Amino acid sequence: MERGNTASKILEAIKYSGQHYKDSLPMIASENILSPLVREACNSDLHGRYAEGLPGKRYYQGCEDFDTIESIGIELAKKVFNCNFANIQSTSGTNSNLGALKALTKPGQTITAVSTADGGHISHARMGAVGMRGLDLVTYPWDEERMEPDIDAAAELIRKTKPNLALFGQSVFLFPTPLKELSDAAHEVGAKVMYDGAHVLGLIAGKQFQDPLSEGADVMTGSSHKTFPGPQGGFVLSDSEDSKFIKRLNNGIFPGVCSSYHLHHVAGKVIALSEFEKFGESYAKDIISNAKSLAQALAEEGFDVLAEDRGYTASHQVLTRHGDIDSGAGKDAALTLEKSGIITNMNMLPGDTKAMTPSGLRLGTPELTRVGMGPEEMKDVAKFFSRALIKREDPKIIKNDIKEFKSNFQTVNYCFEPGLAYPGL
Ligand SMILES: Cc1ncc(COP(=O)(O)O)c(C=O)c1O
Repeated sequence: MERGNTASKILEAIKYSGQHYKDSLPMIASENILSPLVREACNSDLHGRYAEGLPGKRYYQGCEDFDTIESIGIELAKKVFNCNFANIQSTSGTNSNLGALKALTKPGQTITAVSTADGGHISHARMGAVGMRGLDLVTYPWDEERMEPDIDAAAELIRKTKPNLALFGQSVFLFPTPLKELSDAAHEVGAKVMYDGAHVLGLIAGKQFQDPLSEGADVMTGSSHKTFPGPQGGFVLSDSEDSKFIKRLNNGIFPGVCSSYHLHHVAGKVIALSEFEKFGESYAKDIISNAKSLAQALAEEGFDVLAEDRGYTASHQVLTRHGDIDSGAGKDAALTLEKSGIITNMNMLPGDTKAMTPSGLRLGTPELTRVGMGPEEMKDVAKFFSRALIKREDPKIIKNDIKEFKSNFQTVNYCFEPGLAYPGL
């Protein structure tokens, strides 16, 4: 059958991309893979449908079945995240933040957040969602040793600045935020508290990190596809029972920042929630124990792993420094690892000032954990790092060895009906 050049080219590139990940060690901290049932939902007719509004209050006909899906999903999200309110429509973590910022602030008001240099996300910055909402940004003093906001100095800054919103959470996220102390300071000056749990949402729902909504956050946002292993999308969550506040949160997403909200992904999210309810706690535990084992093993191989004094990590992430500050050593390391079959990303670490030539790498264990690797395999992974970056072996040889090693880890786990992790190739 005639497919045309472009379609053939695109389908071939998709196939090669899938093969690439299948044969590699995918260690980007924000990535994950779908379970077979979630994949099925994402590949459904819902892809082309619209359902503006909320279940039972739609602007379009034809939503009866989707109303069932979204209603079940809202209740399940409230259960999984242990809260009173859930909006499951947002199409990404950034979109969740935009919607929440719309609900919680007005242009010209002030927000406090973690700076991007200290690990805050771009949507917390002037060049991202915070700037788009026209907010005045003040960033927290940062404790580089503990890799968290400097508690006393940040509380003082909040009391002095009197922001309308205090935002917490990062993209570089090794340890729980000292939220109780800081949200007390924020509430004292009348600020709302928002916690961006994009990266750690699965660890929170799996009860292995912190519980922001019981520690003072008025709203928690997040992605549905990182440590929470669903399709790409987002959540907005709160413990509030104030109907006006809840209405503002819902309106922040629709009509605020979404019209179509990717119904196939919402259906996938609901299945992912149901899988998480059963398997999430053990998945979250295993992700963190693998991150700790990986950090220890990398340190034993001779790598400079950050936060040794705090046990390296309490999350899914591990940070390594590969040379002088701003030297670009992190970028070089990421390129060498990619040639060797390990997919990571360069990252700014304390002291770095240039995003394109940082000294560090950010590593994540969610995907390796999901395909069945445990602490013993983390030692093997650290050895591959050492062969690539310390012993400087031929990347082609390492890549071949990784392909063979990875061939034993091709099943997606922590879900109903475990199946091929990288299907359709
Ligand atoms: C803290 C934080 N917030 C928001 C986002 C954005 O999430 P998404 O990629 O789903 O838009 C990220 C992405 O990594 C993040 O790290």
